[in-house]
Amino acid sequence: MKHNSDFLILGSGIAGLTYALKVAPFGKVTIVTKESPEESSTKYAQGGIAAVWNEGDNFEKHIKDTLECGGGLCNEKVVEMVVRESTERIKELIDWGTKFDKNEEGEYDLAKEGGHSEHRVLHHKDITGWEIERTLLKKVHKHPNITVLDHHCALEVITQHHLGREITRATMDMECYGAYVLNTKTGAIDTYLSKTTLMATGGAGHAYATTTNPLIATGDGIAMAYRAKITVNDMEFIQFHPTSLYNPGEYPSFLITEAIRGFGAKLRNKKGKYFMKKYDSREELAPRDIVARSIDNELKIHGDDYVYLDCTHLDMPKFIEHFPNIHSKCLSLGIDPAKDFIPVVPAAHYLCGGIQVDEHGLTSAKNLYAIGECSCTGLHGANRLASNSLLEAVVFAHRAALHSSEQIKNTKINKAVPEWNDEGTEAPEEMILITQSLKEVKMIMSSYVGIVRSNIRLQRALDRLEIIYQETEALYKKTTASKELCEMRNLINVAYLIIKFASLRHENVGLHYSLDYIKETARK
Ligand code: FAD
Ligand code: SIN
Repeated sequence: MKHNSDFLILGSGIAGLTYALKVAPFGKVTIVTKESPEESSTKYAQGGIAAVWNEGDNFEKHIKDTLECGGGLCNEKVVEMVVRESTERIKELIDWGTKFDKNEEGEYDLAKEGGHSEHRVLHHKDITGWEIERTLLKKVHKHPNITVLDHHCALEVITQHHLGREITRATMDMECYGAYVLNTKTGAIDTYLSKTTLMATGGAGHAYATTTNPLIATGDGIAMAYRAKITVNDMEFIQFHPTSLYNPGEYPSFLITEAIRGFGAKLRNKKGKYFMKKYDSREELAPRDIVARSIDNELKIHGDDYVYLDCTHLDMPKFIEHFPNIHSKCLSLGIDPAKDFIPVVPAAHYLCGGIQVDEHGLTSAKNLYAIGECSCTGLHGANRLASNSLLEAVVFAHRAALHSSEQIKNTKINKAVPEWNDEGTEAPEEMILITQSLKEVKMIMSSYVGIVRSNIRLQRALDRLEIIYQETEALYKKTTASKELCEMRNLINVAYLIIKFASLRHENVGLHYSLDYIKETARK
């Protein structure tokens, strides 16, 4: 069955919802989202959203911090643009109803996180993302031009390829006409045609065995774009958050926000010794790549599974007021932050790379935009500054909305697109083929393509992945599309891209750290 919209949006996190609200005055909007509408990384964001807000701070300082964190690989024009537009976009979130915490003087309570030279992170306790998602969804549900289709999983973006025309990455003449979407409740695969399509499908933490990301983060948008020969970039830069709660058996991992270190918490190794001083003069508030690598090193030296976050010296009533969610999570596991150290370990958290876009969020394909974590805007370079991703999503949602609402005036829906072809496929015989391969992919990535890499580890990862890739492609050809099979195929594509980009980077910069380039780094 075919459905038409002016704007088709894949994903209902901060990026997709903000864009939806901004384009809704210009036409019919359809949002497809693969779980319930609120399920997204956005919902779990803890620390907050970065913006220049207090008098001691200024745009230049935020720009400098972002550039320094990015290891020289940020696009300076984009950094400047995002930072300068931050205040306006956050005022808009506030006008829409988002409640950021205020202090006793009635001013916004600004937190500090790693790599920031100032307090500039607006937050709602330690559940900032939940509050933003709540606000946006409430407005979206009320808008007469917006339809939200939950439990709908996009399988492929539609391009000339589906019209039987050959396209190549080199000619850069791709066009997007919409997406094929699976209703995961009925199994129907429908054709969603649109004048413009937005990818807002989030990250890919589930390429790894340990991640803070919710289950939806399987890199679908990036894999779909890559298969459609759309440009993807910077995939080697996987950000590992230094402090996810060490709680074996809990998957995904629960995050312990960096804002707690901004509040004064200290890291200790399992013997109880502080260790950050020996790695960086900024200690616990060094950028994330440095803190995560330092923890990784401590774990390797001592053969331990976790280090500790010590909050016992902090002002507990204030701690509980600021971090109630983390406090109650710890208590539920028998850890009292007032008395006990919290066991923590790094976990895959954020993908700095993704679908390459310009300053309007436009990809290398006409009428296809990408914003939020699935995109690569140039803001983060080799390492994202904490709390810059929610900010990036709202700034690019605004820019993509302005651009695409003009673009649709000259665009027609392409009615020649054929329906999804599943001839010759059958229902899967057994799920074990999918679940076991997925475990293997995660183990390969965590063992060989984690915080510390080397050429030999990357080659081994590639060789192992190739076998699973071949098996999965064979399975895909003969099996009716399911969310599970498509997610696994997407994660294999994303894992391949991470390994390939990592193999091509012959230096240690930001989040890419290889044992083979330590000498070169030291010489610089
Ligand atoms: P998401 O919010 O992840 O939304 C993606 C959407 O796409 C979901 O609705 C999903 O269901 C949908 N989707 C995916 N694939 C498909 C498909 N095939 N078909 C249909 N729909 C699909 N950043 C900060 O700036 N500050 C923070 O404090 C912060 N804390 C974080 C804490 C945690 C635990 C995590 C995991 C991340 C945190 N981040 C933080 C990062 C930030 O939350 C994300 O980068 C950001 O929310 C991404 O927004 P998004 O809209 O791009 O994607
Ligand atoms: C955190 O709260 O530590 C996460 C912040 C982020 O990922 O930007």
